[in-house]
Amino acid sequence: MTEYVNIYINGRKYEAKNGEMLLSVARRNGIYVPSLCYEEALGAYGSCRMCIVEVIAGEQKGITTSCSLACTKDLKVETDTQEIIKHRKILIELYLAQAPNSEKIRELANKYGVKNTRFKRKIEKKDPLDNKCILCGLCVRTCNELIGRGVINFINRGYKTKVNTPYFESSEICMGCKACLEVCPTDAITITDKGDTRILSSWSNTTVKMEKCIGCGKFSVPEPIRKKMDSKFFYEDEVLKNLCPDCRKKLITKKVTLISEKKVEQYVK
Ligand code: SF4
Ligand code: FES
Repeated sequence: MTEYVNIYINGRKYEAKNGEMLLSVARRNGIYVPSLCYEEALGAYGSCRMCIVEVIAGEQKGITTSCSLACTKDLKVETDTQEIIKHRKILIELYLAQAPNSEKIRELANKYGVKNTRFKRKIEKKDPLDNKCILCGLCVRTCNELIGRGVINFINRGYKTKVNTPYFESSEICMGCKACLEVCPTDAITITDKGDTRILSSWSNTTVKMEKCIGCGKFSVPEPIRKKMDSKFFYEDEVLKNLCPDCRKKLITKKVTLISEKKVEQYVK
């Protein structure tokens, strides 16, 4: 049975599941704590450090990441002390140097009044991630742990670290699901659809063929995903198989409406 505990954020009492991560509780209650590398489905990784908070235990205070701070009875934290803001501003400066082209990082900098960075990094002319990647690891973990493909990973070490496909070769196992693009906090990943082909330019120009929806005629489902769905799901109506999610939804709604109308007719008679 789930055990609940009372915790205190910025002096106010909140209810949390025992062991739940503080960042999740803050998000649920609309308390803003900046975070760049946390997705609940994946759990804590602690790479961006933006979610730091101050934990208060009697006279003692300590700084830790809220995405990896498990809630226990009477936990007390402050999310925006002067000390925390000072650290966050330094982190933002680092990210401005690491990902100068990222609009999302600039928005964060504006929010904290950070105008410039004292750190310098060489801008790469042909960076497949357009000098927007902060190496948070979300795309890598999503592809590996949630999608189960392992198309991309960290390459090199230290300041030479990058995220891409092994040996920068286009991938033969990518399904073109775009999950990496969805989770990226800095909009660093570029994926475009051209005719029947999805081009993942960030991932060494990997290409994936797309299938046409028989409803709207758009190329909307990557072939590898369609094959996977065929092997996992059973469709009572074969037509549903060849529709994109939008057209599938429309057809199902239409069918449900027809069935309900027939039922109504029966009662009216
Ligand atoms: S591409 Fe985006 S999600 Fe992937 S490591 Fe870089 S910033 Fe994180
Ligand atoms: S969100 Fe907690 S360290 Fe990145």
